[in-house]
Amino acid sequence: MTDKTLAQPSAAPCAGAQSAQSAQSAENAQGAPRHTRLLGQATPAQWAQAVSRVGHPQSQAPMQRTVQVINAADAFALRSLGVPAAGRPLPEVVDQLLNDINPWRAKMDHPRFFAFIPGPASPLSALGDLAIGMHNVHGGSWLQSSGPSAVESGLIAWLASQAGLPASAGGLFVSGGSMANLTALTVARDQKLAPHERQAGVAYVSEQTHSSVAKGLKIIGFLPQQVRRVPTDTAFRMDVEALQRAISADRAAGLKPFVVVASAGTTNTGSVDPLRAIRALCDAHGLWMHVDGAYGASAALSPKHRHCLDGMGEADSLSWDAHKWLFQTYGCGMVLLRQGAHLAQSFHTRPEYLRDAHAEADQVNYWDLGCELTRPMRAMKLWLTLQVLGADAVGEAIAHGCQLAQWAEEALRQRPGWEIVSPAQLAIVNFRRVQPGLSPEATDALNRAISQRALEDGFATVLTTQLQGRTVLRICAIHPDATQADMQETVHRLAAYGAAELATLAPAGGHGRPHSESR
Ligand SMILES: Cc1ncc(COP(=O)(O)O)c(C=O)c1O
Repeated sequence: MTDKTLAQPSAAPCAGAQSAQSAQSAENAQGAPRHTRLLGQATPAQWAQAVSRVGHPQSQAPMQRTVQVINAADAFALRSLGVPAAGRPLPEVVDQLLNDINPWRAKMDHPRFFAFIPGPASPLSALGDLAIGMHNVHGGSWLQSSGPSAVESGLIAWLASQAGLPASAGGLFVSGGSMANLTALTVARDQKLAPHERQAGVAYVSEQTHSSVAKGLKIIGFLPQQVRRVPTDTAFRMDVEALQRAISADRAAGLKPFVVVASAGTTNTGSVDPLRAIRALCDAHGLWMHVDGAYGASAALSPKHRHCLDGMGEADSLSWDAHKWLFQTYGCGMVLLRQGAHLAQSFHTRPEYLRDAHAEADQVNYWDLGCELTRPMRAMKLWLTLQVLGADAVGEAIAHGCQLAQWAEEALRQRPGWEIVSPAQLAIVNFRRVQPGLSPEATDALNRAISQRALEDGFATVLTTQLQGRTVLRICAIHPDATQADMQETVHRLAAYGAAELATLAPAGGHGRPHSESR
């Protein structure tokens, strides 16, 4: 009965003669496939608008708002758009995307977007995305993408050497720092803990380690009580003596310390942990050393700043994001392993349906080295960017970011009432407005209000974070087009927002007169 049922044509067949017919009808008179023909309906003006950053690198007008958040009614309207049964004209849909949807975003690529880790993607990266995406390259196996896979492995080798890793190093492109950390931590677990030891495993992070590390550890099976948050020193770097004490205490308790996660450029302050001292401790106790360089590892490409990362090349594994400080569009990071062969030991599988894509010794099937089977060829956009700009120009752009944060710090130091909480390092500076007579809580509120006013003004986006339990303002400045004048004007405006805010507090707060904030 089953056989017969299967053999009978269904009411709506999805293969066979009908599909050949519809493939034919999908061609226009000139033989162009239907979707390609549709693409041609986008007007030149729409294409120009879509790629406007390419044509007008200076199009970031001085007063352009860097963040625009949609209101509830408009969000409801967008949520309710639904999916039409019959398609709509492409120009109409593209217009809607460009004009009704796209403007409601933070312009992470704006020169004065200084919050989070900005995303100053090069238009070259977007071009790489388009060129590779238009051909839907499958980056899983040598069979499917031997050319791009060869480029990926060459680029991984180059990046590893820039990071100071040895020739044995290997790795792959992943979606970003979170996946890089998850991938590396999986390898660390597999190399250092036998399956029956996993319950006793302990991982060490610092108070400043990015949250994706704890998330990754959780995903691969570790409970929160298996993660130690080691305190940091006054420069927000892991306290190595405290780390030593924690490891010794855990060993004495019969636990199995297995990995230390050091940071090369923390998200809050850009601080770099004492990498060589951590390496020595890892060697002494047989631990894996992972370095999260998602943000900061790019400084290795700047001859002027690579010394800040001293010891990074001693890591067993390294996370490095290209969509942060290597100017790539989102979804582009790398995980590098000191012994590249370790990746396959954790991630290799050999199902029957993939065996035809077997890779020979000098080939690579990236689906055997990480979590993803189907994967986009992320390496190609970075490759295109580096080929066109050259490593020197990229290094200079990275150095420019460090300079921007220094300019901001200098401008702040020239004004009364500003405290530098963490000086400029790796393009990040933390500071806050202080006023005699204001309680710590009121000072926190003042700085939150300054950030809020910055958001409302729209000239530059400066948000807050918490350091040593207090609210501080934070600038992360990595955009190659931002200038000294941008930094000075941003500080000037922050000062004005602070003065305006203090003026509203003065009668009730009873504190002294605000510092004068003229330019
Ligand atoms: C130091 C650090 N590690 C990891 C991450 C997570 O990277 P992603 O957002 O690319 O997953 C970030 C993100 O800002 C980061 O700053």
